[in-house]
Parts: sequence; C-alpha cells; structure tokens
Amino acid sequence: MRERWLEERHHEHYYKLAKKLDYRSRASFKLMQIDDRFKIFREGDSVVDLGACPGGWLQVAKERVGDGGRVVGIDLRRIRPMDGVVTIVGDITEDSTLIKLTEVFEGKADVVLSDMAPNMAGHYSMDHARSIDLCMYAVDVCDRALKKEGKLVMKAFMGDMFEDMLKEVRTRFRSVKVHSPAASREASSEMYVICKGFLANRNVRLVREEPAADAAGTEFTIKGNLI
Ligand SMILES: C[S@@+](CC[C@H](N)C(=O)[O-])C[C@H]1O[C@@H](n2cnc3c(N)ncnc32)[C@H](O)[C@@H]1O
Repeated sequence: MRERWLEERHHEHYYKLAKKLDYRSRASFKLMQIDDRFKIFREGDSVVDLGACPGGWLQVAKERVGDGGRVVGIDLRRIRPMDGVVTIVGDITEDSTLIKLTEVFEGKADVVLSDMAPNMAGHYSMDHARSIDLCMYAVDVCDRALKKEGKLVMKAFMGDMFEDMLKEVRTRFRSVKVHSPAASREASSEMYVICKGFLANRNVRLVREEPAADAAGTEFTIKGNLI
C-alpha cells in the first residue's frame, strides 16, 4: 500500500515538473539524468530517436546537441511538430520506415535512442518478450545507421531474455551498462541499457533487402524475430 502511494507521488512529482518546465513527457527527466551521468550527447551530434512520441526525449536531445546538431524522431504515432526536429510516422520493424529515414537523414547518426515500449498486454512475460524484440530492432537500426564509436541508449523491460539480449549487444559495443535513472518509477521493471563505442562490425546496408529467391538464409531476410 505504502509502496503504491510512494510510486504515485514519484509519478506525480515528475509529471508536474514536466508540465511546469514545458516538457512533453515525464520521460524527459530520465534522459536528462542518463545524459548527466553517462555523457551521451555532444554539441553538433546527429541523433535518431526511436519511439519518440510525444517528444520529451526529442526536446532533451535537441537542447543538448544544440543548433548545429540534427535530431530525427520516429514513432507509430504522429509527433506534434517541433522546431529543428524532423519527425517520421512509421513502424521501426518495417523497411518502409528505414527508407523514410534515409530520405531525411544523410549519413549516419552519432547517437541512437530507443524508449520504445510495446502495447502492454498486461501479461508480464509477453510484454517482456515484445520489449526485447523492440530492443533488437533498435540494435538492427544501429547496424545500419550508427557511426563507428557511436552510442545507443535503449529501454528494456526486465525478464528472463534480458541477459541474452545484453550478450548480443555486447558483441557490438565496447561498453554496455544497465542503469535505472531516478526518474524511473521505483516499482517499474524498466531498465536502460547504455552502450558506447559502437564497433560497426556487421556488414549491413541501411535498408533491409529482400533476398533473391535462391539466396535463402542471408542476413537480410529479417522480419519479426531478430534474436
Ligand atoms: C514510452 S513512449 C516514448 C516516450 C518518449 N521517449 C518521450 O519522451 O516522449 C513509447 C513509444 O514507443 C512507440 N513504439 C512502440 N513500438 C514501436 C514501433 N514498432 N515503431 C515505432 N515506434 C514504436 C509507441 O508508439 C510509443 O509512442
């Protein structure tokens, strides 16, 4: 009972702060706290934010990379326009979304962010599995669109597939840390995975290609399960 009360107070505190400071979501404070601690952004960086609606992380990214930086946000839902930020409506699991990204974003990003969350089914292991699936799509975007030595910050719901996902991520980044910022709810199962030093050791193109009929099993047949 007391735990729930504390959680609601915590939720309300960041909710009110976001309203007062004109941030679009409480989640802004999570990214600020992550950046203060792990030094994710540099001025002039290019950032791709996956699952960016309503735009709280986009605001923080834009503030921290400054006018010389580029920020692109992608979401299934339309993001209200924001000065100096390009937004894309699309599903990150679809090729068409990656094609749209190539149209608005030349070159590769310094930072990929993912606060993507599945539609919660209320079934713990199913929500966990879908969250891990989205994490692997975020990693897939890194393989295609992140600069060597770039950074990834992504949300994951904890569960039994978490360690295997981390193992996969560790094959691609020099440093991988798991962190829960103070602005995350105490009782929440969400964690943030902070990855630095992208190795760029997968030879993949930005857009997933359909394999030729006789080329079964190539790396580009990915649809759905990426683990
Ligand atoms: C917690 S919200 C993100 C909040 C955001 N970081 C902010 O600060 O405003 C998670 C978002 O992930 C998006 N999402 C979930 N699956 C997605 C997918 N396959 N492709 C793109 N966006 C997705 C949802 O539509 C939702 O808006």
